[in-house]
Amino acid sequence: PRIIPSLCSVMCGAGLAKRWNFVMSDKVSMESIVNLCKRRGFVFPSAEIYGGLGGFWDWGPLGVLLKNNIKAEWQKTFVQQRNDVVSIDGAIVTNPRVWEASGHVKNFADKLVECRQCHHRYKIDVLKDGKWISAEGKDLHEKDCPSCGAQNWTEPKDFNTMFRTFVGPVESTENTAYLRPETAQNIFANFQSVREALRLKLPFGIAQVGKAFRNEITPGNFIFRSREFEQMEIEYFVKPGDDDSQFETWVETCHAWFLSLGLKKDHLRLIKQPKEELAHYSKATTDIEFAFPIEKGWAELMGIANRTDYDLKQHGQSAKGDPEAFAAPIDVEGKEKKVPFVIEPSMGVDRAALAFLLDAYEVVQGGRSTTTESIKEEEVVLKLHPKLAPYKAAILPLSKKPQLQTVAQEIAATLRTNWMIDYDEAGSIGKRYRREDEIGTPFCITVDFDTVEGVKRPKGTVTVRDRDTMAQENVAIGDLTGWLQTKLS
Ligand code: GAP
Repeated sequence: PRIIPSLCSVMCGAGLAKRWNFVMSDKVSMESIVNLCKRRGFVFPSAEIYGGLGGFWDWGPLGVLLKNNIKAEWQKTFVQQRNDVVSIDGAIVTNPRVWEASGHVKNFADKLVECRQCHHRYKIDVLKDGKWISAEGKDLHEKDCPSCGAQNWTEPKDFNTMFRTFVGPVESTENTAYLRPETAQNIFANFQSVREALRLKLPFGIAQVGKAFRNEITPGNFIFRSREFEQMEIEYFVKPGDDDSQFETWVETCHAWFLSLGLKKDHLRLIKQPKEELAHYSKATTDIEFAFPIEKGWAELMGIANRTDYDLKQHGQSAKGDPEAFAAPIDVEGKEKKVPFVIEPSMGVDRAALAFLLDAYEVVQGGRSTTTESIKEEEVVLKLHPKLAPYKAAILPLSKKPQLQTVAQEIAATLRTNWMIDYDEAGSIGKRYRREDEIGTPFCITVDFDTVEGVKRPKGTVTVRDRDTMAQENVAIGDLTGWLQTKLS
């Protein structure tokens, strides 16, 4: 909290600091995560030296590792370990007819109201009891403008949140193109090519991980709502009629995935969207919500939608003049064909990273280390699931003596053939443990004089400290790879 005011003005970009409206949850405030992310190199405001840009973030070295691990786990669970899902990597800027057919040019709009006095714009998330509620959960209707205090609002109007650009040197309407606002449409546009090339039979899925862009009216709450973010989406194509049961299965599978990677059960809930709030393409949508420490409280972590045959029919009609153009065989002989229905589990990498960080963050008041070197004040332990932790282990030579450094560097080089490994020889061992705890490193491997001389312990052994229990174990250097493999699997 001490450094937040100055940090926030930078993190939010010019003019956006007032929207920095975090509240404490039962456990951890957003400020703690923002602070940690900046201090330890997870996330920085984009181009911070110029004051940042609202809704854009640069991921630092540890953030990149965390995001890579989230994406790798998703890829492993939903593609590698299944026989029915394949991946693509489509273009961010594609033929604009894709976005006309999908309905995004017409429908991908947020409702906004503008303060006539200061011209600040606010996104209206819902209209409740005749009142406009902002994206942050504020009742704006008869309220003063949060920016200037006036009570002079325009009527709500639509604002299309797709970013526009031009393809080629001429800035004309014909050359207008869009930065994709979701990864899903690349999948629909490639449905037939992928199905035929891979000889896929229903049900099957096409997965994609990649950047999406939305010109959000009110980005905020750190990386929860940004203008550039990453999505991990699957379009799972099924026979019409099988869609309801497949939908339920995907909701359960995705919920289980978050739990398996450490999100707390009581911080997750499943919310079925009411009919009147469904997107134009959806027959049913269930959001997996997380208890984010934001004003709104519970908020969408991911959504699972039954998109019916809407998208494939739209593209069939638009690209081929026939809504049935992308029909696929639904029987074994391939005689009967129908346009498949699609179940879409869609999640944001950045929002998932935020949830994992929030649930991993623990503060130990008064310090938890018993060594005399420990600093007896607040200690932070980031109890990330080992599969998500940026570094799997840290190698810590007890001192900078060359005989310890040589062995420690050899160990680091060996383990680095399999994992991201940190190496730290600066400062007392207590401080180094503390630094590793704060970034979530599950194991600290200490090389000391017993490692090279073997007085109290057998020569050639190291001590391995567990982040969560702080228990220390002696492990022979030659066994370290196998030991770590077992612990991480
Ligand atoms: N293809 C469907 C689709 O894009 P969505 O609910 O708009 O659905 C899916 O987005 C997920 O993408 C969300 O659940 C969230 O995790 C993430 N997401 C959406 N907008 C975001 C934003 N502005 N910033 C960060 N993540 C976002």
